[in-house]
Amino acid sequence: MYKVGLSVFWCILQSPATEAQQHRFGIPSCPNTTTFTINSTYQANRDTLLSSLSSNVTRGVFFYNTTAGKSPDVVYGLFLCRGDISTSACQVCVTYAATYISRRCPLDKTAVVWYEECFLRYSNRNIFSVVTETPTIYFLSGRSSVVTISEEDRFEQFVLKVINETIAMAESRPAGVSKYVTRVENISSFQTLYIRVDCTPDLLGADCGRCLRRARAYIPAGR
Ligand SMILES: *[C@@H]1O[C@H](CO)[C@@H](O)[C@H](O)[C@H]1NC(C)=O
Ligand SMILES: *[C@@H]1O[C@H](CO)[C@@H](O)[C@H](O)[C@H]1NC(C)=O
Ligand SMILES: *[C@@H]1O[C@H](CO)[C@@H](O)[C@H](O)[C@H]1NC(C)=O
Ligand SMILES: *[C@@H]1O[C@H](CO)[C@@H](O)[C@H](O)[C@H]1NC(C)=O
Ligand SMILES: *[C@@H]1O[C@H](CO)[C@@H](O)[C@H](O)[C@H]1NC(C)=O
Ligand SMILES: *[C@@H]1O[C@H](CO)[C@@H](O)[C@H](O)[C@H]1NC(C)=O
Repeated sequence: MYKVGLSVFWCILQSPATEAQQHRFGIPSCPNTTTFTINSTYQANRDTLLSSLSSNVTRGVFFYNTTAGKSPDVVYGLFLCRGDISTSACQVCVTYAATYISRRCPLDKTAVVWYEECFLRYSNRNIFSVVTETPTIYFLSGRSSVVTISEEDRFEQFVLKVINETIAMAESRPAGVSKYVTRVENISSFQTLYIRVDCTPDLLGADCGRCLRRARAYIPAGR
């Protein structure tokens, strides 16, 4: 039995994990380069933003962007959930992310946290409709697949071709529209290839495509 699970998710590559372990592995990035002071207006706005993000996960809303406060203390924030999870799983992930990010990056003006199922980002700069490729993070399944296909090269070419087609579909979507695209291909009667890609919907299709093609380069051969 050979299953390939592969997805490119906001420049994140991931393999399917089991339901139970998904929200545990938060990977925060808090550069600590610009910080705010305790009990400042920025902190109050950041906290308001985080709670409004987690309270705005509703049925079918897997992406949300909003701001809190006024200049010069305005905070921009957004979250994206993976397109194949339930509303309640998205809710759990975003709520967890909001709590975790304020604990791990307590005084950061800008921060992001990634999970298998969602990511959440906030900043003192406008991050809407802007491609962010750093920091980059990639999740790869710890277990490598057993390749039973004899013509490995041809198989890799096939996977790349399907990835290319999937990226092209996401790329063709305009700004404001979901970039979530999935493909399932039967390789043989007992082997299936699953691919999913996503970008935040606020991005232009072309920007999303560029990001995904960069992410594609992280996929190791033979997996
Ligand atoms: C930033 O500061 C927080 C709190 O002091 C700390 O937990 C975190 O590791 C720091 N991150 C970096 C990248 O230094
Ligand atoms: C921040 O505000 C909290 C609650 O009002 C207060 O307990 C704490 O002492 C304040 N911290 C600083 C450093 O001002
Ligand atoms: C959703 O976010 C908006 C700000 O964009 C906020 O005004 C509103 O209270 C939030 N919704 C809920 C249910 O908290
Ligand atoms: C969310 O992002 C879009 C696209 O950049 C922007 O037009 C919109 O104003 C943002 N929404 C809020 C509430 O800031
Ligand atoms: C996938 O697209 C890249 C360019 O983005 C190209 O170099 C590569 O040959 C394509 N691979 C396949 C198998 O179509
Ligand atoms: C793949 O195989 C399954 C089970 O054999 C079948 O139900 C499904 O329709 C096939 N899908 C495609 C796209 O051929």
